[in-house]
Parts: sequence; structure tokens; C-alpha cells
Amino acid sequence: MKGIILAGGNGTRLYPSTKVTSKQLLPVYDKPMIYYPLSTLMLMGIKDILVISTPKDTPNIEDLLGDGADIGIKLQYVVQPEPKGIAEAFIIGKDFIEDRDVCLILGDNIFYRTDYLQNPFPTKQGEKAMIFSCEVSDPERFGVIDFDDQMNVKSIEEKPDNPKSKYVSVGLYMYPNDVVAKAESLKPSARNELEITDINNLYLNEGNLAASILDSEDRWFDAGTPESIMSAANFVQNIEKTQGIKIGCIEEIAFHLGYMNNIQMDDIIADLKNGDYKQYLQKHLVRRAS
Ligand code: TTP
Repeated sequence: MKGIILAGGNGTRLYPSTKVTSKQLLPVYDKPMIYYPLSTLMLMGIKDILVISTPKDTPNIEDLLGDGADIGIKLQYVVQPEPKGIAEAFIIGKDFIEDRDVCLILGDNIFYRTDYLQNPFPTKQGEKAMIFSCEVSDPERFGVIDFDDQMNVKSIEEKPDNPKSKYVSVGLYMYPNDVVAKAESLKPSARNELEITDINNLYLNEGNLAASILDSEDRWFDAGTPESIMSAANFVQNIEKTQGIKIGCIEEIAFHLGYMNNIQMDDIIADLKNGDYKQYLQKHLVRRAS
């Protein structure tokens, strides 16, 4: 399966913090926001990843993450000229996706699972598309999923006035290869975007949409507002301080997954500037080597 991180957008709600930089490059506690979605894809075993962002921000994200070779993955970059909707990722990413299945994650979505190194997200079953859901207190801000008694998806409604449930669709989606053709068949919505909800409804109408509900201990943040970035940062800080681990540490995950050996990890550490992140990796390497 190939992976796409959609990391463009306007960042309107974070203005003026996003005036000269991408939302996805803002820090969430001790690392840039994009480390979190990247680490989620890596933990799902996805190594071949396309990052899509704005013409202005793509070079900066590429400066930060490079081609991924140092951590044993492959990162490529392509520009979305204008934020014309989440589903446009599959049209922009068509050549990258080739004939493969694809997993899309939004660049401002932060996921945490307990024991995350051992406990990956479930992956797609057969030819069905798979979306992820969690229960929230303010469902009217999101795509709301209504389930039947067997927890099959009955409907998905984008930002409804009267939500039918508290379950919302989060920014992580897995699709079979025909998602590209489905995206190409979409018409822009009233707000002139290619909507991911329209893609999901196409799969739903075919009986090919499954939804996986996040575990009750999992956490999800849609870090698109000052409040939600702060909540996410506080959460990350709290876990990291109390448990002595790091969330979203891409080098540690690559090492854990066997994508690099001690010598390669040592080289990466040597290149990092002195600070808490470097010290954490140094300690981790010593611990793993002993
Ligand atoms: P949003 O948070 O819906 O939009 P935004 O980032 O432009 O923020 P705002 O509403 O405050 O202006 O986008 C969710 C994620 O998807 C975010 O990481 C940006 C990304 N995105 C794109 O890269 N391209 C797009 O066309 C859209 C709609 C979103």
C-alpha cells in the first residue's frame, strides 16, 4: 500500500501563525506537526509516501524531511496548486499511486495509540474502502457517521446541523486503487472542493465501505485551530514526560521497524543539533544496543 500525506490547505483558522509557514510545520510540543501523520503511516508499515502541499510550503517540507532514505523510507513531493479539496489528492497522486491501494492521512491529524510500536492500526479488508471513526462531543464540526446495530455504516453527513451520532470520520482513509477513477468522476461541491465525503458515499452506495472505530484509549486531534494544537501539545507533553517515550519520533520508529541499523542511527544522531530530541535518540540507541 502506498501512502499520501495531504499537507497543504489555507490554514485560515491559525492565521497569523500560518502567514509565512505551513500549518504542518508548526510545532506540536517538541516536533513539527507533520512528524505525527508521517509516523502514523510508518507504523502502518507504509514506506512509499507522497507528500502533497502548497507551492510555497512544499520546498520547506522537503527541506525538513528530505527523501526519507536516511530513515529507510521513500518520500516524494508534489504540489497542489490550490486547495481544491481533500479528494483531489488522488488525482494529483495518480502517477504515484500507479496500480496500488492507497492510504491517505491529513497533515494536521495526530493519532496516538497506547503501546503504539506494537499495536498498529488495522488495515483494509479485501476490496473495501476503510475509514476510521471516533466519538467526539462536537460532531457537527465533522463528517458524521451513522451506524446500524451491527456497526455497519448507514450514512455519512458533512457538518450536519442535527448529527445522527457522535461518531465522526477522522483524517485517515484506506482505499482500493479505483479511488483514483472515483475522484476523477467527482463534481466540485457547493464550496468548490472535491469532497472526501463524496468518495466515501460512492463506496457506501456500492456496499464497499467499512469503518474502524478507534479504541477508547486511542486519541485523535484535528490540529487545525489554536485550541486543538494546544490540546495536542499538552497531551504529547504529558505522555512524553510521564512515560519517558516520544510520540511521533520518526527515527525511533524506523529503527524499531528495522529500517536502519545502529550505525545508520548513529549517523542520524550525529547530524542532529544538541537538544532533548537528540538526547532521547542517544539514550534509546544505547538502550536498544545493550
Ligand atoms: P482543513 O483543516 O479543512 O483546511 P485548512 O488546512 O485549509 O485550514 P482552514 O480551514 O483553517 O483554512 O484541511 C484539513 C487538512 O487537509 C489540512 O492538513 C490541510 C489539508 N488540505 C489540503 O492539503 N488541500 C486541500 O485542498 C484541503 C481542503 C485540505
